[in-house]
Amino acid sequence: METLMYKPGLDGAIVGESAICQIDEASGHLRYRGYLIEDLAEQASFEEVAFLLIHGDLPSSHEHQVWKSELEQEEHLPVVVRRFLETIPSSAHLMDVLRTSISFLGMIDPEANDPSHAANVRKATKLLAKTPLILSCAVRARYDAPPYPPISQLPFATNLLYLLTGTNHPMKAKELDVSLNLYAEHEFNASTFAARVTASTLADLYGAVTSAIGTLKGSLHGGANEAVAVMLTSIDQPERAKLWIQSKLARKERVMGFGHRVLKHEDPRTSIVKRRARNLSNELGHSRWYEIAEIIEHTMQKERGLFPNLDFYTAVVYLLLRIPIETCTPIFVTSRMAGWCAHVIEQQDRNRLIRPRASYIGPSIREFLPIQLR
Ligand SMILES: CC(C)(COP(=O)(O)OP(=O)(O)OC[C@H]1O[C@@H](n2cnc3c(N)ncnc32)[C@H](O)[C@@H]1OP(=O)(O)O)[C@@H](O)C(=O)NCCC(=O)NCCS
Repeated sequence: METLMYKPGLDGAIVGESAICQIDEASGHLRYRGYLIEDLAEQASFEEVAFLLIHGDLPSSHEHQVWKSELEQEEHLPVVVRRFLETIPSSAHLMDVLRTSISFLGMIDPEANDPSHAANVRKATKLLAKTPLILSCAVRARYDAPPYPPISQLPFATNLLYLLTGTNHPMKAKELDVSLNLYAEHEFNASTFAARVTASTLADLYGAVTSAIGTLKGSLHGGANEAVAVMLTSIDQPERAKLWIQSKLARKERVMGFGHRVLKHEDPRTSIVKRRARNLSNELGHSRWYEIAEIIEHTMQKERGLFPNLDFYTAVVYLLLRIPIETCTPIFVTSRMAGWCAHVIEQQDRNRLIRPRASYIGPSIREFLPIQLR
């Protein structure tokens, strides 16, 4: 067999082709289907970005209207899923609830196993519309309260904010909208790769997304935003921040929200979310989380030369929006759903089973002894 280069964690390995997202390391730019993230994040709505990722181009006004009504038609949950959500213990992690509920949806969708492009797009539309409802049901069940009913005609982010907090606040919804756009897609990250591996076996889109959610939960990936929010609230006061971080580093622990496998300099998404976190702090007259975050950023830069990633200042924004901390990573799911589905569709449109090799490091040849001789 040809000797292949191996790097732990597939560091730098090219494992497939994709026309969805470009991380341009030379220029530092990030593009979704050719569009700069700086243009999309604040000027397009999440519905437009999701359409771009799944359908391949930005929607015209007419396509946008059709897309919104397609999403709206799917804004309901099957009774069996609602019943299932009512049985979940309040101690369950919301990422586990999402993973299992979406797996459940796959069990009852008659076209789950149809890998055609059109069927996959329909399934993607369903998942985009239904995931916020699942999350809302699960969160509200913790307070023994019924879910807030989705309000028709509301933009995706406004609806999501309402489903999570019961408030309809345009300025806050805009912050969430930008955040969803930033989270929507990032090339062959761990969860997307997991989805593509699953899809490459011709397993169904629900199965692929279930794999992806299981993968996103980890704190080295999507779970980092929740971990950052917990860290900020634990530090609580700006004057405690520097020492808190220095002690953590002295214990050789990782500080969540810093570092990235691919991006070793500033992440263009971080600049956007940092600016918005600062402005939102000023507008709301609540500067504590941002101040703590800036001290952490300077300390990490000085002590380790590490840059904040997207999750870091996103946690500041979510705290300012008074979004429940346990929903930070699930919100990431509602957005990355667009990216995952786009990748599953792309994979199954031009499929080849993903089956890499391992470099064997186990024992060399051993003589087998029957059990009575061992
Ligand atoms: C994301 C992450 C796994 C990428 O790591 P990576 O590029 O593979 O880098 P490594 O894990 O090989 O770490 C390289 C060095 O930087 C250090 N490092 C990396 N991220 C760190 C962090 N967040 N805090 C403290 N040290 C960190 C490692 O300890 C290691 O130091 P060493 O060489 O002295 O052992 C890593 O940066 C991390 O764990 N970050 C925190 C979790 C997070 O925010 N995840 C969201 C990512 S978008």
